[in-house]
Amino acid sequence: MVSRVIPVDGFDLVIFGGTGDLARRKILPGLFRRFCAGQMPEDARIIGAARSEMDDAAFRDTVAEAIREFGGAHRADKAQVDAFLERVGYEHVDAMGETGWETLKGRLRDGVIRAFYFSVAPSLFGALAERLRSFGLADDDSRVVVEKPFGKDLETAKKLNATLAEHFDETQIYRIDHYLGKETVQNLMAVRFGNMLFEPLWNAQYVDHIQITVAETVSVAGRGSYYDKSGAMRDMVQNHLMQLLCLIAMEPPARFSPDAVRDEKLKVIRALDPVDHHQIVRGQYDADDTQPGYRTHVDDLRSTTESFVALKCHISNWRWAGTPFYLRTGKMLRSRTSEIAVVFKDAPHSIFGPEAGTHRNVLSIRLQPNEGMTLGVTIKEPGPGGMRLVDVPLDMSFAEALGPDAEEVPDAYERLIMDVIRGNQTLFMRGDEVEAAWAWTDPIIAGWKRRGDVPKPYDPGSSGPEDALMLMHRDGRKWREIKS
Ligand SMILES: NC(=O)c1ccc[n+]([C@@H]2O[C@H](COP(=O)([O-])OP(=O)(O)OC[C@H]3O[C@@H](n4cnc5c(N)ncnc54)[C@H](OP(=O)(O)O)[C@@H]3O)[C@@H](O)[C@H]2O)c1
Repeated sequence: MVSRVIPVDGFDLVIFGGTGDLARRKILPGLFRRFCAGQMPEDARIIGAARSEMDDAAFRDTVAEAIREFGGAHRADKAQVDAFLERVGYEHVDAMGETGWETLKGRLRDGVIRAFYFSVAPSLFGALAERLRSFGLADDDSRVVVEKPFGKDLETAKKLNATLAEHFDETQIYRIDHYLGKETVQNLMAVRFGNMLFEPLWNAQYVDHIQITVAETVSVAGRGSYYDKSGAMRDMVQNHLMQLLCLIAMEPPARFSPDAVRDEKLKVIRALDPVDHHQIVRGQYDADDTQPGYRTHVDDLRSTTESFVALKCHISNWRWAGTPFYLRTGKMLRSRTSEIAVVFKDAPHSIFGPEAGTHRNVLSIRLQPNEGMTLGVTIKEPGPGGMRLVDVPLDMSFAEALGPDAEEVPDAYERLIMDVIRGNQTLFMRGDEVEAAWAWTDPIIAGWKRRGDVPKPYDPGSSGPEDALMLMHRDGRKWREIKS
């Protein structure tokens, strides 16, 4: 059932930050899995680059370790691991200095695609881009992959875009939002634009509201100093939730091509109304018996940064005027759940009488766990008890649909890296998209600062502060349960 794997062309992929956490947990194990799936050609090479001094053999040991931990189904297959490691090398390079650049250049081959993954702090992006050009490693065909966060507000994002633009064309820049690489997210487009069933109903006339929830169980412990400068709005809403909102709300692009899709997403962001501060709830998790609260985790007992946000927003266009979108994300919540729920309106008239109750169709798109979709359909309760209505789920779990092949479905990072090599930017954010998202987010954050807003406390393992529930109750609606 998994579609045929088409190998990509030969490439040299340099991972700046090859010794870092992201490379170890996601990028390198992901490349290994693509290698095992047969997607990497003979002449693919991966070069880790960072400040640590080590030779190829030492780096291969760290990659082997990462594969043992995160490599998936084939991680114990020694022959596969060894064959993959033969393609891996390391260069000691200082992004801010002169060290290593000439030797790295000597390693790169002509006639294959060159891609440079910036898996380092954003403060190094400019220095890397500049040196890639000045040392002659990159040409007009090379690609650069840029990790989040892409700026911390509109001004810094603009600066970052301008710096990258000094050295690379927009068609060479791949800004990663790994949510866009998820199978279900792409399926969202397949469901919307590949079926006649949904699109005629996909508008304010038939949709009551849409909920997007990205709930995490993890705390910010270990990354407190980074997180406290960011908060849920910058860390999650401006990028991941905004991208999901765009895909659910955009007009059908004329074709599935990078700029056609991204043009439509951009129109959604630009059509977003400013959010009234009464329509936003910020939260910060408290301590419980087992662990300290947010403020201890970030080592600032007066911190007013939010670890939770819930908000209601509106898209002012013909399709969506009048249909609210409710967005919610937070740390230390009841379970790790990402879901988009499209809640359709009630049938205009019930022929079954009031005792049959009101039933709404809900299309729920699960990003995690158990990627898949469920359509709630109203049917007659089986049995002789007369015409009573019940809701039943039409459930499609990818793991079940794909059976044993599910293991082979690439994860978000794997898919996106292969797209970089293919030169397909459809699932990457364009510079103007990122800027438009900041232009919408900045006034919200500035408003909090101006008003001295303090987040509401919430219990770890809950679904967020009470006020977030009220945000929907006031409108006669209810959040979908974050199930444990
Ligand atoms: N980790 C995640 O789950 C995650 C998720 C999403 C986005 N990101 C983003 O991905 C990027 C990397 O994150 P990370 O968690 O992997 O960070 P990290 O563990 O701190 O790794 C940083 C890497 O940068 C290298 N580095 C630092 N200064 C350097 C310099 N002057 N020249 C060359 N290399 C240098 C380090 O190498 P040495 O130690 O050898 O110097 C290390 O390999 C960040 O932008 C982060 O925001 C990370």
